Amino acid sequence: MKEKIESLRQEIESQIQLTETGRALYELKVKFQTELKGIMAGMKNLTKEEKPLFGKVVNEFKQSMEAQFDSRAVVVKEMELKAQYEKERIDITMPGKSYKAGALHPITLVKNELIDIFSGMGFEVFEGPEIETDYYNFTALNTPKDHPARDMQDTFYLADNLLLRTQTSAGQIRVMEKQAPPIKILSPGRVFRSDDDATHSPMFHQMEGLVVDKGITLCDLQGMLQEFAQKMFTSSTKVRLRPSYFPFTEPSVEVDLSCSECGGKGCRLCKGTGWIEVLGAGMVNRHVLENCGVDPDEYTGFAFGMGVERIAMLKYGINNIKTLFENDTRFLEQFED
Ligand code: DAH
Repeated sequence: MKEKIESLRQEIESQIQLTETGRALYELKVKFQTELKGIMAGMKNLTKEEKPLFGKVVNEFKQSMEAQFDSRAVVVKEMELKAQYEKERIDITMPGKSYKAGALHPITLVKNELIDIFSGMGFEVFEGPEIETDYYNFTALNTPKDHPARDMQDTFYLADNLLLRTQTSAGQIRVMEKQAPPIKILSPGRVFRSDDDATHSPMFHQMEGLVVDKGITLCDLQGMLQEFAQKMFTSSTKVRLRPSYFPFTEPSVEVDLSCSECGGKGCRLCKGTGWIEVLGAGMVNRHVLENCGVDPDEYTGFAFGMGVERIAMLKYGINNIKTLFENDTRFLEQFED
């Protein structure tokens, strides 16, 4: 019996030292208790005199082993905690993941700058609908059906009378119908034309301006354009008006700015002319005023319309309009503030 106890002690003691988890220690303890039960079962074969002595030995053995299990349990618990901390450790010196902040698109930048410049001159912003009726986009703008000027803009029709607006000029009518002069509005927005090459996109942005009041002349238009050009480009930028034709203005002009690249000497950008065409403008045609219930003998006005993409391309030296719509972040990143 004694040898059995001794060999069990040796076996369990050496194994206790090898346990590293609470589970292993628990399993070892169960094994020990089973073996001990076997030893105690052998007691029934002992004599009356032997029994108390052996009982004492077994008890002491049991207590000493349990003490060892308890003290190992403390060690194992610590080992387990350490292993868990190690596993969950956060390396605070590791660089964080950086998420890039977005920035405004160059079209938005130019649009905002235009609004800034013109609101500084007293213009208020009006935004008209992108889906227009034939009346607002053409007829009221002195371009009735079969008017040859309709061919100047390839139109996307949605229905007989409904179209994607080809020009923000449609907004002029909407404003004049609702509001009596004096009028001074700026109308930004998307326009649509069946047109597609390096300098044209089927969808692009325009900025329309309209001023109607008593005594407005072409000189007012010219002065205002001069102010706009110098603020948008450089303080030495000059403005030139050339005769042109738009059905809704009379007289109509094409507005050129002195080339910001060469200062007017002539370069590739301005094709050697020293001038760059940037917008259309003119004195509001009296028929347009009449269509909106404004008396052309009492009031006069000027209007202008420019392509926002064109301004952005000139300002930032962009040579293909498509880059403005591809959303390539390598291109867009260049416009971050
Ligand atoms: N709507 C014209 C276009 O899209 C641009 C334009 C020309 C607007 C003359 C005007 C203007 O207001 O007076 O080509």
